[in-house]
Amino acid sequence: MSVEQEVDSEGYVKLVAVEEVPPGEMVQVTLDWQGEEQEIALANAEGQIYAFKDICPHMNYPLSIGLLHGSKLECRGHSWRFDLVSGRTLSPPIRKTLNKYPIKLIDGIIWARLD
Ligand code: FES
Repeated sequence: MSVEQEVDSEGYVKLVAVEEVPPGEMVQVTLDWQGEEQEIALANAEGQIYAFKDICPHMNYPLSIGLLHGSKLECRGHSWRFDLVSGRTLSPPIRKTLNKYPIKLIDGIIWARLD
């Protein structure tokens, strides 16, 4: 889904309502950010919302079409697994991480800081 850009005084960008990201699922949100289209993955895992760049650090598959196993994300590209809490891979010695964004929830709306 695509959203209009709205930024608050702390630099958080308004994304979507929490209901748009059902428990145990991920969605992709696209928006124009500083002149470039950004693809952001939102995950609702174990009662927490996570936001991160929707590009796998391995070979750029969209992470939002991956699989959630609790708070773990499995990329559909080559099955790398990531811990959503830390952002780290779960397959040492692979040391790449998710590009996570800080989020906040205000009145049921997800906001993320993209820089
Ligand atoms: S692209 Fe994600 S594991 Fe290869």
